[in-house]
Amino acid sequence: NRVYRLAVIPGDGIGKEVVPEGLRVLEAAARRYGFRIETDQFDFASYDYYASHGRMMPEDWKDRIGGHDAVFFGAVGWPDKIPDHVSLWGSLVAMRREFDQYANVRPVRLMPGVASPLAGRKHGDIDYVIVRENTEGEYSSVGGRMFAGTDREFVVQETVMTRIGVDRIMRYAFELARKQGRRRVTSATKSNGISISMPYWDERFREMARNYPDIETDSFHIDILCAHLVQRPDHFDVIVASNLFGDILSDLGPACTGTIGIAPAGNIDPERRYPSLFEPVHGSAPDIAGQGIANPIGQIWAASMMLEHLGESEAATAVEAAIERVLSEPSLRTCDLGGRADTATCGKAVADALG
Ligand code: NAD
Ligand code: IPM
Ligand code: MN
Repeated sequence: NRVYRLAVIPGDGIGKEVVPEGLRVLEAAARRYGFRIETDQFDFASYDYYASHGRMMPEDWKDRIGGHDAVFFGAVGWPDKIPDHVSLWGSLVAMRREFDQYANVRPVRLMPGVASPLAGRKHGDIDYVIVRENTEGEYSSVGGRMFAGTDREFVVQETVMTRIGVDRIMRYAFELARKQGRRRVTSATKSNGISISMPYWDERFREMARNYPDIETDSFHIDILCAHLVQRPDHFDVIVASNLFGDILSDLGPACTGTIGIAPAGNIDPERRYPSLFEPVHGSAPDIAGQGIANPIGQIWAASMMLEHLGESEAATAVEAAIERVLSEPSLRTCDLGGRADTATCGKAVADALG
């Protein structure tokens, strides 16, 4: 009776290579923990779909995937063929916004046995969660271009921060800290330079913090925060950040844990009005696509986050443990971690480790 219906969207490039490994692990987890996964595969949100339909997604995409329990997403973007803002705003960004998946949750963890590029860091030293605002902020389509083609040409693009939008991501970050037993929430700001929106962000952070006296808080400007994430990553527990800052931190963080190829993301509608979307942090990696060498762990860890969201906590924990076991074995690592395993070998190993 525990049946989950997933909308599966592989997308472009290595998305098509890592999604099958995520599904392989989900199937193994389902067998082991006694639930069922039903999948509907969709070919939209890809360059191929765009080439034959002239748009990234069908007009009725919301009806097609809105009734599923979750969306399992690979990656999208093929910049040689289609400008990134066209492909991304026509697909992934549209889904995040239309499904009001306002919390983009991106855990960062140094796995046992994996070498960090930061000298002397070991498992346990890097373990934090980036909570990225996912529907507004710097990612707004408010603005435009005027006097195009003339020497008076100019462009404007606004940052939008709504009270509802800022408060709900702050609340989410504090609630997550409580739920995961984490001590501190750090805010990423830039209120010294960005003189209207970021002071507002700070103000709402201080206000929200008053409701959580059990949680420590601090706040850093984004520039020095980047330095701290490199020099003392062990300080951080939960980091709440605007859309753009969260995007940047969530490539920096995983790079400090060896590779962005293992990093997962949950694009979550905490109110569960819409399906949430689970994907790796990385993109379609055109430089390695088609070779079968992409690291599937980001996709598999995203599958684990999805299981947690669906209520299968035991299976979610088991998948994470399986990931740790596989990564601690050098011969099962992909090339981004200095190994020689291919995508399928690594994915199968995680599925097998589930027993
Ligand atoms: P990228 O994440 O695709 O790749 C960056 C680098 O990391 C590349 O050298 C790539 O080979 C490597 N890499 C990424 N994932 C890997 C994995 N799983 N295993 C091994 N190596 C991996 O970023 P990019 O090159 O800036 O973007 C490529 C395309 O993807 C663009 O169209 C971009 O807009 C899009 N993109 C999409 C998403 C998404 O769908 N969520 C995220 C980021 C970028
Ligand atoms: C991510 C990606 C996207 C983002 C791009 C592809 C629009 O970088 O998911 O991190 O900026 O959100
Ligand atoms: Mn990104």
